[in-house]
Amino acid sequence: METTALAPADRRASLLPTALIGAAYLAVFVIFAASESWYTAFMAVHVSFVVLWIGGGLFLTMMGILAERARDAQQLLAITKMAALAGERIFPPASIVVLSMGIAMQINAHRSFSHFWIVFGLIGFASTFVIGMGVLAPRSKKLKALLTTKSADDPETIAAISRILLIARVDIAVLLLVVADMVIKPFS
Ligand code: HEM
Repeated sequence: METTALAPADRRASLLPTALIGAAYLAVFVIFAASESWYTAFMAVHVSFVVLWIGGGLFLTMMGILAERARDAQQLLAITKMAALAGERIFPPASIVVLSMGIAMQINAHRSFSHFWIVFGLIGFASTFVIGMGVLAPRSKKLKALLTTKSADDPETIAAISRILLIARVDIAVLLLVVADMVIKPFS
């Protein structure tokens, strides 16, 4: 896929407005959070990072399905690379914030960790950690190595990409079930 590098001036031009938008968002978030209890502040952070983590994963999943349907090997490879980058740099810190805020809420509410919906959340978190570190990360590394000898539309590359994207779909389905679990709180 052909890419065009941004000139340093273009990058600088978008940096300041982006920082201002981020600062305005943070200021309003803090004002909202300060108007209520610690519990609701923790929940707002918890849910915001859930949106970043699972929203990002779901978006990549949908883009992957569209690229597969269009039989676009280059696009599929680009999405897999984006997913690998997000899986390495964005999703792990976001997931740690989600977990910490979840634990903070339980402690703040003096509530037990043995409720079914909490146990399910912890199992969902553990499963995504194992899938990410134990399966997706090594497979992404293997794909990187494969790409040094094979092209994006080589059947071996396509098969490796399809397997990675399929495993990522299982991961996102588990996470979506945790969202349903957290909202419904079944058997509690
Ligand atoms: C895979 C990770 C997780 C996801 C995707 C997730 C998602 C969510 C969502 C969407 C909500 C909002 C529910 C609502 O407003 O009705 C929520 C609330 C909550 N979550 Fe999680 N969560 C996760 C992990 C955890 C963990 C591990 C814990 C505890 C250790 C936890 C504790 C809580 C608590 C206490 C609430 C507030 C419930 C309430 O007051 O109604 N979460 N979570």
